[in-house]
Amino acid sequence: AYEKLWLVAALLLIVGFIATITYGSVGLGIAMLDDSEETIEPKELNDDERFGEPRVEQVGENEYEAYVVAQTFIFQPDPIEVPANSEVTFYVTSRDVIHGFAVPGTNINAMVIPGEVSKMTVEFDEPDEYGIVCNEYCGDFHHTMEGQLNVV
Ligand code: CUA
Repeated sequence: AYEKLWLVAALLLIVGFIATITYGSVGLGIAMLDDSEETIEPKELNDDERFGEPRVEQVGENEYEAYVVAQTFIFQPDPIEVPANSEVTFYVTSRDVIHGFAVPGTNINAMVIPGEVSKMTVEFDEPDEYGIVCNEYCGDFHHTMEGQLNVV
């Protein structure tokens, strides 16, 4: 009978962890990483409606979409500017090799893979300034690859 209890306890713990990861908020808001199946080839980026001109676009009263392109060794746009009290969905892809898209002080932390679109939604409450870093080794100047995210 005790073994069964342990099993239930272990399962609850796992469910708890998943819930924490999914709904956890660190610092400013919530980042929900979802496994979007969206793909785009690097050579198609220039002709793409969204990534041809990386930018932030308003899509609702307090809702925005940010189209971000990573390439050695920059992020575009730079800086990324979003309003406070907003919900921003980031769509991030790479023009060349695997990069990272991480914003210390938030829970934004995604791998950016050429051919794929990483998607995450984040809420921003207060005006603030964040650095964006690439946390996947991408070449000689990987350590210099950074950007700026301004909540204004
Ligand atoms: Cu890009 Cu490291």
